[in-house]
Amino acid sequence: MAQTYEIPKGVEALADYEELARARMTPEGWAYIAGGAADELTMRRNREAFDRIELVGRALGDFSGGGTTLELFGDHFDHPIFVAPAARHKLACPDGEIATVVGAGGAKSGMVVSTESDFTLEEIAAAAKTPLWFQLYIQHDRGFTRELVGRAERAGYKALVLTVDAPVFGARNREQRAGYVSPKLSEFANLRGLHTTHFAHAELGESLMFKGYMDVMPRWEDVAWLKSFTRLPLILKGIMAPEDAERAIAEGADGIVVSNHGGRVLDTLPPSIDVLPAIAQQVAGRVPLLTDGGIRRGTDVLKALALGASAVLLGRPYLHALAVAGPAGVAHVLHVLRCEFEMAMVLTGCRTLADIGPQVIWRGPPQYSVSR
Ligand code: FNR
Ligand code: LAC
Repeated sequence: MAQTYEIPKGVEALADYEELARARMTPEGWAYIAGGAADELTMRRNREAFDRIELVGRALGDFSGGGTTLELFGDHFDHPIFVAPAARHKLACPDGEIATVVGAGGAKSGMVVSTESDFTLEEIAAAAKTPLWFQLYIQHDRGFTRELVGRAERAGYKALVLTVDAPVFGARNREQRAGYVSPKLSEFANLRGLHTTHFAHAELGESLMFKGYMDVMPRWEDVAWLKSFTRLPLILKGIMAPEDAERAIAEGADGIVVSNHGGRVLDTLPPSIDVLPAIAQQVAGRVPLLTDGGIRRGTDVLKALALGASAVLLGRPYLHALAVAGPAGVAHVLHVLRCEFEMAMVLTGCRTLADIGPQVIWRGPPQYSVSR
């Protein structure tokens, strides 16, 4: 690691890292991490939705033998908080994903490594102390994609997370205004050697989406194609409709992440947490569900589990912490979130994750009927 890292005094909650991170990053890098699509309504509403949900406090429970452990896709985890896949960790910290994976190991969190990481998936795996999953963006060259999956298998990744909600990344106006420029696909560490023949560009008066661009993007058939050669569990990330959850299971998905990509792709999608119950009802326990988007407090983790998730992914806050304090920061945010989550469990009467259910969600004040 290139330097030593310290957690600044007064940083107690995830949000405390945000302004400090902004001050340490370039304006373009900050716009990329902090921004969402278009008017950022979905990004904001992800948060507001969690804030609206209230809890039922319970007293004097017996917590002996309690804990937060879980089994997921054949692995044991100490707690249900995972590092979400995010591209380009070097924008936050020179040690990039190596710092992140060291921090995740310190906090005993699982981590999902992005296709668009700044270190190779092998370099990240070599520094890992906890199970890693590989987030896959299917490339237009399916042969290259298959080899990429093989590399993830050989490097010891335990699951594939296929992101299905972003064939196009959406109207990234904050990034555009800040002058953020995305690297070419073949410049990403994992995609060296990829022939990038396909760029989204339309002259005035031409169609951007419907003149070839979408022809090479993944389709449902690609899920069965992946299943035909990988031995890893396949988790579909970015499902927001019960119909798509049903199709995902029919095509062989082993898990689903209910996600709107942190509000970064299609603006005015509803908050993930508001969609989760309908998808949980549809899936009815056939495959595990995860969710992400706007999780900033331990109470948010509890709410997500109460509404049907087995685990959650944390996005921007660990990138903020990475910018401020490298691996120490990443470990710290994950630890803080876990501690807050455990407090929320205890205060709502939940001894284990299995105890967390809809009963912890306050259903609102009774409707008083006033008669004169
Ligand atoms: C992301 N996300 C993402 N998702 C994915 O599947 N592959 C990726 O490469 C990326 N890259 C990425 C970069 C950055 C900077 C951010 C902030 C996010 C989405 C991510 O996995 C997750 O869905 C959201 O970040 C969750 O929302 P919160 O916690 O950031 O509100
Ligand atoms: C993003 C892509 C990389 O959200 O998933 O920026």
